[in-house]
Amino acid sequence: MKILLTGGCGYVGTPLTLSLLDAGHHVTVVDLQWFGNFLPAHPHLTVIREDIRHADRLPMAGIDAVLHLANIANDPCSDLNSKLNWEVNALATMQLVERAIACQVPQFIYASSGSVYGVKDEPEVTEDLPLVPLSDYNKTKMVSERVLLSYADRIRVNIVRPATVCGYSPRMRLDLSVSMLTMQALTKGRITVFGGDQTRPNIHLQDMLRVYHHFLAHGLDLPGIYNAGFENISIFDIADRVKRHVPAVVIVTPSNDPRSYRLSSAKLLATGFAPQHTVEDGIRDVIAAYRDGRLRDEERYYNIKTMLRLELAQAA
Ligand SMILES: NC(=O)c1ccc[n+]([C@@H]2O[C@H](COP(=O)([O-])OP(=O)(O)OC[C@H]3O[C@@H](n4cnc5c(N)ncnc54)[C@H](O)[C@@H]3O)[C@@H](O)[C@H]2O)c1
Repeated sequence: MKILLTGGCGYVGTPLTLSLLDAGHHVTVVDLQWFGNFLPAHPHLTVIREDIRHADRLPMAGIDAVLHLANIANDPCSDLNSKLNWEVNALATMQLVERAIACQVPQFIYASSGSVYGVKDEPEVTEDLPLVPLSDYNKTKMVSERVLLSYADRIRVNIVRPATVCGYSPRMRLDLSVSMLTMQALTKGRITVFGGDQTRPNIHLQDMLRVYHHFLAHGLDLPGIYNAGFENISIFDIADRVKRHVPAVVIVTPSNDPRSYRLSSAKLLATGFAPQHTVEDGIRDVIAAYRDGRLRDEERYYNIKTMLRLELAQAA
C-alpha cells in the first residue's frame, strides 16, 4: 500500500514507519520534526518536513491510506499554546480529511486518545459511553473524532483511542508513565508518584503498531471507533512492577490530574486483534535500552521541555 503518515518522526510514528516499510508498504512521512528525525533512508520512504496545517501541500494523489498521528500529544503541551493546539489537533484534521477526500484516498486512520473519557467509574469503559474531555488536549481529540465521523459517508474512517503507550522507541518519550517511572528508578533510585490511585489503561508500543497494521489490513470493513488498551492498572501498580526490576523507593505527592478510567478493548478484540506484549515488557525494554547505552535521561525525550526550547508557548 501507499501510506501517508503524519507524525511519522514521533515516538509511535518512528517505529511505525519502520514496521510499515518492513511489511513492504511505501511510506510518505509528514512531520515538523520537533523532536528530531530518527528515520534512516529507505528506498520506499519519503520524509517531508512540513506542517500538517498546510494540507494543500501534502502529496495525497495515489495514497491508499492516511494514518494521522501528528498532534501536540499531551495535556501540558496542549496547554502551552491554545491557538496552536486547536489549529494542529483539530482544524488540521478537517483540512487533512478534506484533502484526502479530494484526492480520492479510500481510508483515513486517526490516533485519538483513551483520555477522552476523563473520569469514569464504570468497570469497563466502552466506546459508546459519553465523553468527559477534561483538558484542551482531550477536547481537540474529541472534536477531531466528531469532525472525521461527519465525513464517514465519503471516506472510510477508523478512529483508534489508544491507552498510554509504553516501551522503547528510537525517538523516545520519557513523559509517559511507565517509561518515566522506570527511568526515575534507574537514574535516581527513587520513583515519584503523583496521586497513585488513578487507574489508567496501557498498551505496549509493539501492540500499538500492530493495531495500526490491523486497521490498514481490515479497516475498510471496520469503520468507527475502537479503544486500544489492555492493562488497566494504577500508577502505584506500575511503580510496584518497576521495583521488581530496579530497586527504588516510592515517594507519593498530591496530583492535580484526576483522569481515571478502565478501558475495555472488547470491540477491538472481537475483530481478531490480540495483544502480544505487556507493561512488564515495556519496563524491560526501557531498562535494556538504558543499560546498553541507547537511552539516556535527556531533555529532548520530554515533549514539554522541547516545545519550550522551540519557543512554541503562546506569547502572554
Ligand atoms: N504516546 C501515547 O501514549 C499516546 C496515547 C494516546 C494517543 N496518542 C496519540 O498518538 C499520536 C502519536 O503520539 P506520539 O507519542 O508518537 O507523539 P509524539 O509527540 O512523539 O509525536 C508527534 C509528532 O507530530 C509532529 N507534529 C506535531 N505537530 C505537527 C504539525 N503541525 N505538522 C507536522 N508534524 C507535527 C511532531 O514533530 C512529532 O514528531 C498523537 O496523536 C497522540 O496524541 C499517543
